[in-house]
Amino acid sequence: MKVLHTVAEFRQARAAFDVLGFVPTMGYLHQGHLALVEQARRECPAVAVSIFVNPTQFGPNEDYARYPRDTDRDLTLLEAAGVDLVFIPSVEEMYPPGFGTYVIQPAADEVLEGAARPGHFRGVATVVCKLFNIVQPTKSYFGQKDAQQTVVVRQMVRDLNLPVEIVIVSTVREPDGLALSSRNVYLNAEQRAAAPVLYRALRTAAERYAAGERDAETLRAVMRSVLTGEPLARPDYISVAHPLTLRELDRIGADGALLSLAVRFDQVRLIDNWLLEGEGT
Ligand code: PAF
Repeated sequence: MKVLHTVAEFRQARAAFDVLGFVPTMGYLHQGHLALVEQARRECPAVAVSIFVNPTQFGPNEDYARYPRDTDRDLTLLEAAGVDLVFIPSVEEMYPPGFGTYVIQPAADEVLEGAARPGHFRGVATVVCKLFNIVQPTKSYFGQKDAQQTVVVRQMVRDLNLPVEIVIVSTVREPDGLALSSRNVYLNAEQRAAAPVLYRALRTAAERYAAGERDAETLRAVMRSVLTGEPLARPDYISVAHPLTLRELDRIGADGALLSLAVRFDQVRLIDNWLLEGEGT
């Protein structure tokens, strides 16, 4: 496994491979990241992973400085997973003095994570676009856990004709349903015990959908009522949206819906989602 820190070094090492699978990460890897790497391994003869805590996707009052980092442990996990190339650039390498070009999707900033975290998707789209240009992957793997991110990345690839295939991999969960996230380490014991309420709320709404409920407001109310049963949980948003446009729905039609939640446990904010398949999907 080669570990590269500069764009020039990475490009030189990348030239040894034809077809390349790519998993972009911010490090502090967990089983969710490794599921992406495993799928890339199965589908591509060579795999690259990037580790870069991208400052431009964090708001001024967010957790950039304290975002968990453990590069030695990450490298041990990636070596064991059979990764070929790891790209770990510095902030200066990615954003040298004078940097001034951004990828923006105004519509993404109007809903869900985009509305709650101004500038977040500008940062994500810009860094993913840069990483695609540096890594030049054949396929790139993203987790369904960050559902709106997958929509933004797919739209960027379409709009900018980027020559990469995007593969979305199912969310990996703890046995009690909590979606794996690097931010779960911020939870204290009491909050950790309360956190699976997101999964329970989504599952309860999905069961109502399976039983025939198609009214979106009823499903929002179902999720709200499960969340209200957990005193530590403070919902940020409770959404039943179209799976591609992410606009809130009145009724769920042939395209199905994306149920998504952002919930605060004091300072810790968790997100999770559940895709409801439509008759047309
Ligand atoms: O999902 C993440 O970890 C990040 O948003 C990504 C895609 C690596 C871009 O910084």
